[in-house]
Amino acid sequence: MSLSPPFSLRLMIELKDISLSNILKTINISIPEGGYIGIAGPNGSGKSSLAKIIKGIQDPSEGGVYINGVLRPKGKVSSDIGLVLSSPENQLVSSSIEEDVAFGLENMNLPSQEIAKRTEEALRLGDLWESRDTPAHHLSAGQQQMLVIAGIMAMQPGYLIIDEGASMIDPQGRITVLDAVKKINRENGVGVIHISHDLSELIVARTISILDKGSIVWEGEPSKLHHQEPLLSALGMELPPLLKLKSLMISGGYDISDKAMTAEEMADEVVKVINRPA
Ligand SMILES: Nc1ncnc2c1ncn2[C@@H]1O[C@H](COP(=O)(O)OP(=O)(O)OP(=O)(O)O)[C@@H](O)[C@H]1O
Ligand SMILES: [Mg+2]
Repeated sequence: MSLSPPFSLRLMIELKDISLSNILKTINISIPEGGYIGIAGPNGSGKSSLAKIIKGIQDPSEGGVYINGVLRPKGKVSSDIGLVLSSPENQLVSSSIEEDVAFGLENMNLPSQEIAKRTEEALRLGDLWESRDTPAHHLSAGQQQMLVIAGIMAMQPGYLIIDEGASMIDPQGRITVLDAVKKINRENGVGVIHISHDLSELIVARTISILDKGSIVWEGEPSKLHHQEPLLSALGMELPPLLKLKSLMISGGYDISDKAMTAEEMADEVVKVINRPA
């Protein structure tokens, strides 16, 4: 007979009453391992400051970061949390692709066989194994960002923070990076904290928190975002185009499911409207 555990055995990051001078105000967010949360907000709203606090590069002035229920001491950087920033070239450490991924592993004093195995796996995950003899600076921006992500994934983190990690990349590279992040969450079970000023990047998240002037002003599922148009426009943010279409159709009196998020789901909804008897 198998017994259900009385509590969740998953890992958890909890931000409890985090404040940072006048930059962040009493932020509370829970991030389960394997979860995918989005954090959005206008320029200067405190997103990157929050990312640094989650990683442990910056200590909050009040409140704390709890990892599996235990308060992380001040000054401690979490090696289990990877941080991907917007400019890949600033995050690469070597001109050799293999060296770049192996660098972090060498610092972990792993046996050389394990380093070689993890390097190959990470480069395959980033679709870079076949290009491993190319100098890193010859890769496209999207491939460079995939190299940064591969270097982090080789260290087998429980969480990945993406702070505008796809914002400065060409459209094709952007899709590659966003797809890879989704796959890392869904297939590798890595918890993702995805920060972007662009809400269309965040519709894959389970929940989104919107920051303004250091406070969370809205929190909810992406499928509920279209009800927040007045708030978003006051913050200078835009609904993703498909959600804008959904919002327009609902305000025009059409019965559209709240759950429709993708182009395929919206197309199904529109077809239902067209085929409905008058
Ligand atoms: N080291 C620092 N010292 C003092 N103020 C800072 C520091 N870093 C950021 N700030 C200020 O904190 C506020 C939040 O900045 P932060 O970079 O966290 O915002 P953001 O939401 O990431 O913005 P962006 O969308 O431009 O990336 C801004 O007013 C910024 O000027
Ligand atoms: Mg930022």
